[in-house]
Amino acid sequence: MESNSLHPRFGLEVTGFDVRTLDVQAIKEIRTTLAGCGVLVFRDQVLDDDALERVSRQLGDGRLEEPARTWSHAPSTRFVSYLTGFQDASGKPIGVADNHTDYWHSDQEFRCDPATLASLYCLVPPTRGGATSFATTAVDQLSLPAELVERIRPLWSTRRPAPTHDNVEHVEVSHPVLLTSPQGNGEFVYASENTERFLGVSDEEGSALKDQLLRHCLSDQNIYSHEWRMGDFVVYDNAQVLHRRELFEGVRWLKGTKIFAPSEYFAVPEGEVVGVASPA
Ligand SMILES: [Fe+2]
Repeated sequence: MESNSLHPRFGLEVTGFDVRTLDVQAIKEIRTTLAGCGVLVFRDQVLDDDALERVSRQLGDGRLEEPARTWSHAPSTRFVSYLTGFQDASGKPIGVADNHTDYWHSDQEFRCDPATLASLYCLVPPTRGGATSFATTAVDQLSLPAELVERIRPLWSTRRPAPTHDNVEHVEVSHPVLLTSPQGNGEFVYASENTERFLGVSDEEGSALKDQLLRHCLSDQNIYSHEWRMGDFVVYDNAQVLHRRELFEGVRWLKGTKIFAPSEYFAVPEGEVVGVASPA
C-alpha cells in the first residue's frame, strides 16, 4: 500500500489501491495504518452502495450503525447515508442537504456506544468550497501542558443528540475525556464543540477546560482540510480526530457509513447514560 503524507501531524493518502477486493492481510494493514494516522484517503475508488457497505463492515468489527437522520438513508440500505442536495422526482432532497459550516464534532459522540470509525465517499464534489476539515486530538501532537493532561485524565464529559437526530435515543451520555490507543499510539482527547459539561467539576472550570482543549485541537497548524475529488474514499477514526464540513456552493454528493471499531486496534469510548436530554 503506497501512501503519502496529508499533514505533518496526521493523515495519509493512498493511491493505486482498490478497496473492493480486500484480503485478510490488506484489512490488517489498513486497520494498523489508520490506528496510527487517524485519517486515510483512498483515491479513485468506484463504489456502489453495496460495495461501500461491504468494505465498511470489513474494516470495522462487522457491525455498522444507522446514521442519526433517517431521511439520509440510502434507498437500498439504512447503513449508507446520502449527504446531498440532489432531489428526487418530486423535488425533495434525497439526503442531508446542509451546505453551511458545521460544528467541530466527533461522529456518533451522542451515543452511549458510539461507532467511532466512519467513511465518506465522494460521488460528486461541490462546485466551490465544501472541504471536510480534520483536526487531530492526539495528545502527543498537541503540546498540551502536562498539568492539563493530568487534570482531564480522570474526567468524563457529556453530549446529547441534536434535535434533528430522529434516529437516536435522546439521552445525555458521558465518556472519558482521554482515550488510550490499544496499539501504543498514545492518548487522544475525546471532547468537541458539542461537549456539554464535565462531570464532577464546576460549570466555570468545565467551560475553561473545554475552551483550553479546543484551542489546542483547533489551532491552524493542527488542521487538514480535505478538498474532495470524485472517487475519494476517506476513512477516519473519530477518537483520533475532530472534523467539520466547510461552507460550499453548488450541489455535492457524498455517501457515508458509521463503523463500529475493532477494539484491539482502536480506542473505543464506553459511555454511560447520565440523564434525559432536554430540548436545545
Ligand atoms: Fe460528521
